[in-house]
Amino acid sequence: MKILVTGGLGYIGSHTVVELQQRGHEVVVIDNLYNSQESVKSKIESITKKSLKFIKMDATDYEGLLELCKLETFDGIIHFAGYKAVGESVKEPLKYYHNNLLSTINLARVAVELGINKFIFSSSATVYGDGVSPFDETMPLLERTNPYGETKAMCERILTDTAKASNLNVTLLRYFNPVGAHESGLIGEIPNGIPNNLMPYVTQVAKGIREKLYVFGDDYDTSDGTGVRDYIHVVDLAKGHVAAIESTKTGVNVYNLGTGKGTSVLEIINAFMDTNKINIPYVITDRRPGDIAVSYADATKAFKELKWKAEKDINEMVKSAWNFEMNLK
Ligand code: WQD
Repeated sequence: MKILVTGGLGYIGSHTVVELQQRGHEVVVIDNLYNSQESVKSKIESITKKSLKFIKMDATDYEGLLELCKLETFDGIIHFAGYKAVGESVKEPLKYYHNNLLSTINLARVAVELGINKFIFSSSATVYGDGVSPFDETMPLLERTNPYGETKAMCERILTDTAKASNLNVTLLRYFNPVGAHESGLIGEIPNGIPNNLMPYVTQVAKGIREKLYVFGDDYDTSDGTGVRDYIHVVDLAKGHVAAIESTKTGVNVYNLGTGKGTSVLEIINAFMDTNKINIPYVITDRRPGDIAVSYADATKAFKELKWKAEKDINEMVKSAWNFEMNLK
């Protein structure tokens, strides 16, 4: 298939482009480089040994999208492009609503107008709000705790309603916590400034960029008191997108992409130290506002319907994350 990947030079996008090309699909990437680097294009090409067409474009540019999709005749769209920093979304909600909603609306309009009938959307487990894990796709979506999560829930709604009124087939992929990097060490998560997420902060402590890790609370009702999350290797997540775009299911389909296993912050720290033989100094501090105690997936639906499940364990996640950090200049 010929697939348009928006945000395809970003962390999850680049790993998905690698898997798509290695499956023989033709890929065109647009990216506005707000949270990615153009050099990732050549990194992808050196992994797949295939050339990659990249066009610098903002997914909120309706005219540009229409012109591109008239030229290229895509079979499907995978939409990653979007702002994703929870804390920033609280400080600048309009920036998040404008970018995340308008880019999705524009892409859906172009897809419907041109009959591109496969649309994969990068959603997030945050749409479940402060619910009780394991989260399954039939659960009601509770109150979100931040505008970022709200934009994901709104985009799901927009795409669901559009699919019901057109021939657009929509797949909503709810990611849990993507971590790790491609085994080559050439692509991975490149945070802008101080990392918000746990794993890139840990790798920067390991590298000596940060003095120590701040563990946000150890008084949660969990095995060791620290927050529990469903960490999934980004390559497994990428393969979930390939399974989704190759699925012949029609209408609106929603899938959790997680391992189904919860891991605490302290367990991540210990796995990192044991696997990479590096000490990670840390201090326990207050809880981070908006954090929930426990979040992990019921991942059975994706296995049943897409024949996809996560294969890589926590040790591969922390090993690959460190390997990428070591390669970063
Ligand atoms: C994980 C755990 C923290 C940093 C968010 C978004 C989600 C997705 C992934 C975009 C929690 C603890 C973290 C630190 C810590 N974002 N932590 N010290 O909050 O589960 O999910 O990022 O795609 O949509 O909601 O991920 O990595 O920030 O936190 O103790 O310096 O690590 O409290 O328990 P989170 P995270």
